[in-house]
Amino acid sequence: MTTITEQDVRQALSRVEDPEIGKPLTELGMVKAIDIHDNNVAVVLYLTIAGCPMKNTLTENAHAAVAEIPGVGEVTVTTDVMSDQQRRELRQSLRGDMTEPVIPFTEPGNTTRIFAVSSGKGGVGKSSMTVNLAVSFAARGLKVGILDADIYGHSIPGMLGNQERPHAIDDMIMPPVAHGVKLISIAHFVEGNAPVVWRGPMLHRAIQQFLGDVFWGDLDILLLDLPPGTGDIAISVAQLLPHAEILIVTTPQAAAAEVAERAGTISLQTQQPVAGVIENMGAMVLPDGTLLDVFGSGGGEAVAKRISTLTGAQVRVLGSVPLDPQLREGGDTGVPISVAHPESPTAQAISAIVDQLIVRKDSLAGRPLGLGVQSH
Ligand SMILES: Nc1ncnc2c1ncn2[C@@H]1O[C@H](COP(=O)(O)OP(=O)(O)OP(=O)(O)O)[C@@H](O)[C@H]1O
Ligand SMILES: [Mg+2]
Repeated sequence: MTTITEQDVRQALSRVEDPEIGKPLTELGMVKAIDIHDNNVAVVLYLTIAGCPMKNTLTENAHAAVAEIPGVGEVTVTTDVMSDQQRRELRQSLRGDMTEPVIPFTEPGNTTRIFAVSSGKGGVGKSSMTVNLAVSFAARGLKVGILDADIYGHSIPGMLGNQERPHAIDDMIMPPVAHGVKLISIAHFVEGNAPVVWRGPMLHRAIQQFLGDVFWGDLDILLLDLPPGTGDIAISVAQLLPHAEILIVTTPQAAAAEVAERAGTISLQTQQPVAGVIENMGAMVLPDGTLLDVFGSGGGEAVAKRISTLTGAQVRVLGSVPLDPQLREGGDTGVPISVAHPESPTAQAISAIVDQLIVRKDSLAGRPLGLGVQSH
């Protein structure tokens, strides 16, 4: 009979990641003790905080990994909680010994692509597009985060069905994960539906903290859901993330297109590149197959043309997403249509937009994705 060693158990546990941090437990100092008697294994894991929301997932995954060791007897996994000192050490090992949090996305060598989802007008579907694009990116195996930059009108947690709040490891905020997407929102820090009444500098500080104090890990894509218009937050985002690409959402309506143009031309002042235009609430497909143009047509093209002329860069319509009750329903229930009905024409339209956004990245291979990628 083989004798199981501590080394075997450590090796098994090295395949288990902390779901929030995305690194093996063994690297995070989260294995407190391993006891082996007659091939029965007892493991004690450290949780970062008492009542850690990931406790069950962690213990189940650790249990499953150890149980796979050939010849293992009974496996038990119990937990203990890190001390303040251990939490501080973990934070330092994850983020280095910096006193001031820095924004990782502007550090040299960072490859995260950032899209700021903007519109001139409210209610055109920015937040709906943000969550559906995010889950669609995640479905391709990319690591995705959403920063809900709409401080007054936050809606991302609701649209992703997220009720869990972030927790802190020392002074670092661990974002919750919903449908495979990390998210952070001011909704996580206010009670119930309390309104946020802040002025410009506080809004700026909030966005800065969301970028610097949240442990995002190595993201491939970060989406920012902006409030409508070209106010304080859009300016803060431009200052904090000058290389963020602007994704403009508009409806097909001529009047909406005119306003959307303003959101696009802000890029002239901020020098941010425009990733493209999404036309949302396009012709609705009726049960008998006929199309109903509720909001008219041509808005997306009109915006793309105008912004191309104004900025001198080639701005394209990335796709048109139909008006679809299932999309609205997905937002209300917290299961985005791209998760609930990925085969639907609407989810497919969103997926095709994701394809285009990804292709652009490849076409830029080897070139830095900062300012000057699309010169104005
Ligand atoms: N293609 C669509 N089909 C049906 N309903 C849609 C579609 N896009 C958005 N909606 C619905 O329209 C409403 C507004 O959408 P959403 O909240 O995404 O817009 P927004 O631009 O983020 O708004 P705000 O400017 O207030 O932040 C929501 O109820 C949403 O479910
Ligand atoms: Mg919104």
